[in-house]
Amino acid sequence: MANKIKKIGLLTSGGDSPGMNAAIRSVVRKAVYEGLEVAGIMRGYEGLIDGEVISMNSRSVSNILGLGGTILKTARSKRFMTKEGQRQAVEVIKDNGIDALVIIGGNGSLQGAHILHAEWGIQNIGLPGTIDNDLGYTDYTIGCHTSVHTVLDAVDKIRDTVSSMERIYVIEVMGRKEPYIAISAGLACGAEEILYPGKDITIDEISAEIREAEKKGKRSWIIIVSEGYSGAQELSRKIHDATGLDVRAVVLGHIQRGGSPMAPDRILASVMGVYAVDALIRGESDKMVAVQARNCVLVPYEKTCFERQKDMELYREAYDITKLLAT
Ligand code: F6P
Repeated sequence: MANKIKKIGLLTSGGDSPGMNAAIRSVVRKAVYEGLEVAGIMRGYEGLIDGEVISMNSRSVSNILGLGGTILKTARSKRFMTKEGQRQAVEVIKDNGIDALVIIGGNGSLQGAHILHAEWGIQNIGLPGTIDNDLGYTDYTIGCHTSVHTVLDAVDKIRDTVSSMERIYVIEVMGRKEPYIAISAGLACGAEEILYPGKDITIDEISAEIREAEKKGKRSWIIIVSEGYSGAQELSRKIHDATGLDVRAVVLGHIQRGGSPMAPDRILASVMGVYAVDALIRGESDKMVAVQARNCVLVPYEKTCFERQKDMELYREAYDITKLLAT
């Protein structure tokens, strides 16, 4: 049943992702259009606990659509994991007359949103803002497209040296649990090997493959490794020890989270932001906006945060295609 919210709060939390600003713009402008007040909360749950609340209007979000990062800043809050931190946050919500929240962030941030609803009765809707694409029941998350493209851009450049100097490069990409970035970038850049948590292959097997390919004249290799599988330094040392070949390690790091969001992330963020405000007006709560086959849908946090939904079969297929095309 629709309730009468007058003021919504908005925060970004966890690791920033390209497109968070586009989502902020969308939420603020849609809320203003609906006659709602908007309170921006700085620094995620940290700022919520500390009462860092600012008033926002349509002009507060001018010219941010193409900006990386988040104008509301973000943080990983240890304090919000405690009952006392949550109590303080709820007090700030009440003191500022905030009726409902839009929370933009990844898995941990949306688990926090679930607690706000389930344990403190705070109405809220989440938007999946993370490069990792590690939330369940959504095809994509805001930022994942740009991140894969950033990796691709970097690997394409590294490949110039890889093929000119005929070396093996191990390139480490982000994605703690979910191999989305590794698999997608690996496929897009024509990697010779992709390693990610759950991939069943030994160093000896990889080394044998490299040796075998070398006999057929293949002298350069790009191995994309997801951070959850192994560090690039360690892996390159092991492959060097096993093959005796020149193996270099590159850790791409936080460049993967930065930069101007690409069109798919801006579009996703803009559509989801509007959808989130509509959902709050309808009285919805405890759910994340997801995209499934190009449609926005609401999915309970308990599913998006705790049920692994990304299709391992699809990853396996992408892996097999990558290997086939790299021969
Ligand atoms: O936001 C997701 C992510 O980029 C992961 O891929 C990575 O493991 C982690 O954040 C790094 O976090 P931090 O910037 O706090 O070191």
